[in-house]
Amino acid sequence: MCGIVGYVGKDNAKDIVVDGLKRLEYRGYDSAGIALIVDEKICVYKKQGKIRNLEIELHKLPIFSNLGIGHTRWATHGKPDDVNAHPHVDCAEKIALVHNGIIENYSELRRELQGKGHKFTSQTDTEVVVHLIEEELKNSSTFFEAFLKAVRRLHGSYALAVITLYQPDTIFVARKDSPLVIGLGEGENFVASDVPAFLSYTNRVIFLDDFEVATVKSDGVSVFNYDGERIEKRVTVIPWSLSQAEKAGYKHFMLKEIYEQPRAIADTISGNLNWFHGETELKGISPDSFNRIQIVACGTSYHAGLITKFYFENLAGIPTEVDYASEYRYREPIVDGKTLVISITQSGETADTLAAMRLAKSRGAKLLTVCNVIGSTATREADAVVYTYAGPEISVASTKAFTTQLTALFLFALWLSRSRKTLSEERVERYLKELLEVSSKVETLLKLEKEKATIKNTALEFYRSKDALYLGRNVNYPIALEGALKLKEISYIHAEGYPAGEMKHGPIALIDENVPVIVVATKGKVLDKVISNIEEVKARKGRVIAVTNPDVKKVKELAEYTLEVPEADEYLSPLVNIVPLQLFAYYIADFLGYDVDQPRNLAKSVTVE
Ligand code: F6R
Repeated sequence: MCGIVGYVGKDNAKDIVVDGLKRLEYRGYDSAGIALIVDEKICVYKKQGKIRNLEIELHKLPIFSNLGIGHTRWATHGKPDDVNAHPHVDCAEKIALVHNGIIENYSELRRELQGKGHKFTSQTDTEVVVHLIEEELKNSSTFFEAFLKAVRRLHGSYALAVITLYQPDTIFVARKDSPLVIGLGEGENFVASDVPAFLSYTNRVIFLDDFEVATVKSDGVSVFNYDGERIEKRVTVIPWSLSQAEKAGYKHFMLKEIYEQPRAIADTISGNLNWFHGETELKGISPDSFNRIQIVACGTSYHAGLITKFYFENLAGIPTEVDYASEYRYREPIVDGKTLVISITQSGETADTLAAMRLAKSRGAKLLTVCNVIGSTATREADAVVYTYAGPEISVASTKAFTTQLTALFLFALWLSRSRKTLSEERVERYLKELLEVSSKVETLLKLEKEKATIKNTALEFYRSKDALYLGRNVNYPIALEGALKLKEISYIHAEGYPAGEMKHGPIALIDENVPVIVVATKGKVLDKVISNIEEVKARKGRVIAVTNPDVKKVKELAEYTLEVPEADEYLSPLVNIVPLQLFAYYIADFLGYDVDQPRNLAKSVTVE
């Protein structure tokens, strides 16, 4: 939610900040703005809508500045317009600030500051912070002191970047519950909400932790705690390359990321084989130190959790619950030292997931996180981390993160099954072999689609639909949920995922000749049951699109359209079966002319509650 960028150095901050914002546009895209120090003045430019609008405006202006900050917004307080866009400035126009997060005590601060004569121009929660710094400056000997005093008074979540005429060579940053990364260059430094913003300049980064502030100058970075004491921070080298964060000839990031799945799955296996083969403990988590698992996650990651429940229960024999993190945090989960809580999060910054993790930890659970972003908050707060190696996922709709989460969690479940002896060595080896084959199965499927365009043509047939129903059973029921989520988030078509056997208890009433019913009907123990469900749909004139294997004749006879996928072990079939549904959603959204990578109302990283 919202992206922040800052630059100080020898080059033109205007271009570097705008370039960084474009790479963070997935975090929010309803307005954007930039503040630069030019000729001893703070110059602010803001524009409603996408960053492109701001870029066009700035292009006309021949300005050069060595220092600047920028912001791409996902509105929380105040509508998305030019006035509410960040940066915000103080009354004297000597301080400019950008913010990601929510200031929870902004109403009282605003009242207090208005009482002292501060004039507000926006409806945002953010604007109080810049006036608060201005106010604190009256009783401080340095700008840094005023900045510290101000951030100590804030409640809620924030990543802040501030520039000021009082100290025009420095960007001041602070963090609590919203991500902030500092990029280290030669004679230049960067700040951002996420690494891709400056990855073309440097891959050496410092991750700021909660309740830390930093001063960022062209020749150095200093980090402090809220008492103003200097602290040493570790420098992390990010292994991603810039090309991974670019489109590489694909029309959209989503399509590129779908096509990257064979590589991402293979990398996730090889990246984790080390501990899979070697460790008897996963960074402090021993395989028999817990007797149940709770999984917390949101959205697509939650769907991955629903599938992995089958892995933990059926293969490793461990009772497993799966919760939406946003629900878990407000119920009274029964957690103790014998509970392993697994958070699944691509970004590692999802506010609800982090809150669920913190709740579980406070009640004595051990935390494992499955995450794609090195150094993210989830990876720093968990006791142990299993990384997915999807590479940067830029498209808001998650695809390769999902299949790599399943890959990593299947490996973890196998590791547990072997250690706890719920599976024999031979079965573990057999499953591992099956897992190793998934990547080439997905590759075959994608290659076939390139040649035959079956999924694309099916999407062409259905892109004007108003509703869609997705059905699946057993380990593929969550695939129905995930397929429906993909369709609704990028094409805005109402879609529901349902367990096929549950259809007769309600949703069957929706079926008529206009509703496509997408059924996951691949080989497995419930295939016959799913075939009966297809018959029920057909009897009500529903139009069936089936995801099935090449030799499942009955399904091919019944369905109006079939999307063929290579046969995989039943537990691993979700990794293959989701791919046609991702492509189906992608093509429908593209046919409708929507902005596939940045769908309306959404943001990639949901760092507010
Ligand atoms: C859907 C999607 C979201 C995320 C969810 C959790 O395509 O991307 O539903 O899966 O916001 O995000 P992470 O995994 O970063 O915690």
